[in-house]
Amino acid sequence: MMNSVIRLGIAFVLVLLVSACADKDRPNYQYMPNMYEPVSYETYQKVDFLPDGTSALNPAENTIPRGFMPYDLENTPEGKELSRLKESPLDSLNSEVNLAVGKELYDIYCAICHGAKGDGQGTLVKREKILGVPSYADVARNINIGSTYHVIYYGQNSMGSYANQLNYEERWQVSEYVMKLKQDL
Ligand code: HEC
Repeated sequence: MMNSVIRLGIAFVLVLLVSACADKDRPNYQYMPNMYEPVSYETYQKVDFLPDGTSALNPAENTIPRGFMPYDLENTPEGKELSRLKESPLDSLNSEVNLAVGKELYDIYCAICHGAKGDGQGTLVKREKILGVPSYADVARNINIGSTYHVIYYGQNSMGSYANQLNYEERWQVSEYVMKLKQDL
């Protein structure tokens, strides 16, 4: 018993000595290296037992993240054209609520460029921070609800995607609101 107390004491003094003498400009001794260097896998580390390109960064093939609604159209001119055929899947009996939510989200995410009325005269446009923001009434673009959803999902040229800010339902709510703005322009 006494013996081990003395041994512990000596070990303790040694540790103190070594730490006290440590050169501040060099890495100190590692007493228990596996407390510093992980033996487990790092989250995003490549591992050889998984096929190439697989990592925690990529979802497993043919899976859908929880709560995520897949979109079947691609970010191509053909996809954009096909998007025009889509209708809002939201319940039209809830139209009032959907438009109210759509307006709230639109004012947060879109109005800064497109303007609260959708005329393409948002604050950033007026201050000449961004160019080429169209009015929703632009005849040449002839937007409809499906193409609006498509553009919210993928973005278009200097407009970014809002797929991460707005979920499936919210994207349609904003699209419905954009259609209302277009009508009122
Ligand atoms: C940073 C400024 C900016 C923001 C914010 C922004 N847009 Fe845009 N938007 C643009 C620009 C620029 C274009 C023209 C892109 C092009 O065709 O070159 C555009 C184009 C569009 C179009 C017409 C696309 C077409 O079919 O030609 C729609 C619809 C649209 N935006 C909706 C939205 C909605 C809805 C939001 C909010 C979720 C939004 N935008 C947020 C800049 C913005």
